[in-house]
Amino acid sequence: MEKIVCTCILTLFCVKFALSRLDGLKTVESYMNICMLGKYHKSSPSPEKGLVSKFCSPWAVRSCCTEETALDIHVNSAWLNFDWNHCGQLSSRCREYFIMDSCFYSCSPNVGPWLVEDVRKIRKERFKNVPLCEKVCDNWYEACKDDLTCTDEWAKNFNWSTGINTCPHGSACRKFSEVFQNKASTFCEKVFGSFKVVPEDPNGGGNCFHLWFDPRHPNPNEAVARRRASEILNVEYKVVQGSESNNGHNKAVQLDSRSTFVVSMVVFTAVLADYVK
Ligand SMILES: *[C@@H]1O[C@H](CO)[C@@H](O)[C@H](O)[C@H]1NC(C)=O
Repeated sequence: MEKIVCTCILTLFCVKFALSRLDGLKTVESYMNICMLGKYHKSSPSPEKGLVSKFCSPWAVRSCCTEETALDIHVNSAWLNFDWNHCGQLSSRCREYFIMDSCFYSCSPNVGPWLVEDVRKIRKERFKNVPLCEKVCDNWYEACKDDLTCTDEWAKNFNWSTGINTCPHGSACRKFSEVFQNKASTFCEKVFGSFKVVPEDPNGGGNCFHLWFDPRHPNPNEAVARRRASEILNVEYKVVQGSESNNGHNKAVQLDSRSTFVVSMVVFTAVLADYVK
């Protein structure tokens, strides 16, 4: 009996261990070259020359989304079956910010250090506590504060029984300003539960993300991600100019998680053999 319990626990442990590719990230470059594990994300960032749609175009140099996804975000008012207009039509200014956010979510190659596991049909990972610059959040909130919604946590509270999000029973449509208690950071952090609002370092240290930037300029978020990856790995942060190259580090990551899997299976088999005996 004890052996069965022991084997079960070990099996669960091995399976969990083998499946978490995030545990295999051991270098700053591996954090830089990873996209969210999801149905609508590429497996790793690479150039997308055709990424011309306005709000996704900054990511053309190194992108986690395809051209099709980028276009869909701009033209489809129910992208991923999400009805933005669940309380009447969103204002175009507010809608633009949500398009920007969707582009960031789908295309940004810089969220590696903030990925955590998730269990959904369309994705197995999500990002959490991604540092969003306070100014960016303030502008987004300003654009939306007079628009209407019926719940503060869009990732959790909607009724999906019809296949598209509708307001849950008993939750009336109210202004964003009321739903989010007049606070920009409450809005940015709660609405999808993925951001943490932080004031931008006045010395330009690159401590927070921009949702959008002028595509003619280099991606300001690269340094933010590199810094965080260095922190996680406890290695010295190195400034890298024009870090657009995608060298063979993905292969290293895959190998790493594969060897973890093999080791886990060997242990599992050994225990099982012992148990059967
Ligand atoms: C969800 O929507 C369905 C269909 O409109 C409805 O029957 C159900 O009561 C709703 N559930 C909640 C919790 O709002």
